[in-house]
Amino acid sequence: MANIRIPKGWEIPENQVTPESAYINRRKFIRDLGIVGAGTLSLFGTPACAQNRGVAKQLEEYKKHTLDAENNEKYTVTRPQTDEITAATYNNYYEFTSSKTTVWKRVEGFETRPWEIEISGMVENPMKLDVDELIKQMPLEERIYRFRCVETWAMVVPWVGFPMKALIDKVQPKSSAKYVEMLTFFDPDIAPQQRDARMPWPYLEGLTIEEAMNELTLLVVGVYGHILPPQHGAPVRLIVPWKYGFKSIKSIVSIKFTDKKPRNFWNRLLPREYSFEANVNPNVPHPRWSQAMEWMIGSRDRYPTKIYNGYGDSVAHLY
Ligand code: MTE
Repeated sequence: MANIRIPKGWEIPENQVTPESAYINRRKFIRDLGIVGAGTLSLFGTPACAQNRGVAKQLEEYKKHTLDAENNEKYTVTRPQTDEITAATYNNYYEFTSSKTTVWKRVEGFETRPWEIEISGMVENPMKLDVDELIKQMPLEERIYRFRCVETWAMVVPWVGFPMKALIDKVQPKSSAKYVEMLTFFDPDIAPQQRDARMPWPYLEGLTIEEAMNELTLLVVGVYGHILPPQHGAPVRLIVPWKYGFKSIKSIVSIKFTDKKPRNFWNRLLPREYSFEANVNPNVPHPRWSQAMEWMIGSRDRYPTKIYNGYGDSVAHLY
């Protein structure tokens, strides 16, 4: 299990409001889960040679399935793009493991086609259809976005997807719908960590309708020009680049329109650490990671964190 740094500032308020036994258990719990501190990221995202070869071979299969999507030049990033192998070997996918550099290996055998997705709840036109049918109906484009994890690592990735707004226009939410709730698949035979009953499976995330309709909000089905490999959340995931990465739920099976604010996975697990809103903000430190700086995986580049991850022009008006 990796080291974890628990700053004093985090322990004190936790201890004040929680009975001692529960407090100690929660610390042990975080440690058991292997949720690592920034200090343990010793690889600087540079995977070992054998790992590079392994993942390159794995990606060959996905590269056969290219997606016909033009790059949308409106969304450009000045920082260098992250190398594909680096992005594919440094992942968070807790259903499989809490060890980022081994996710790519653990997801081997995870079949992501065929895949049914249901759009339900407070909508005029509910739908249940195969993901490839959905892809055919949606306007695909490529967008290069910055991506920022709350653990302070960051990357620049070319996603292929469609604006969530295109789907919302199709299903037509009723005026009573205020939120969109999204769920990941649940199958402990495939995703062994889902047997851990201390975690509120299946992974759940949510957005307000206004956030879901925002031009930046993408339902992503590909990366680097081809369909998603499983470690990135195949066959369809969310990308909301102004929010911390945990909002960008992977392998979605259900999108439900509701009038109740969803309790997202990490907020249910550790409510003092993870909010519903989760907008990137250098001025609001996470109890375990200062958010002042970020580092790019696959390089030693560090940058000051930008409010809304640099996307304030598109989203600041929402808050
Ligand atoms: N979605 C599911 N279902 N399970 C997860 O563990 N991890 C989240 C998010 N989506 C996660 C998830 C977190 S914490 C991050 S940072 C991103 O996925 C990582 O996306 P990537 O592995 O494609 O870089």
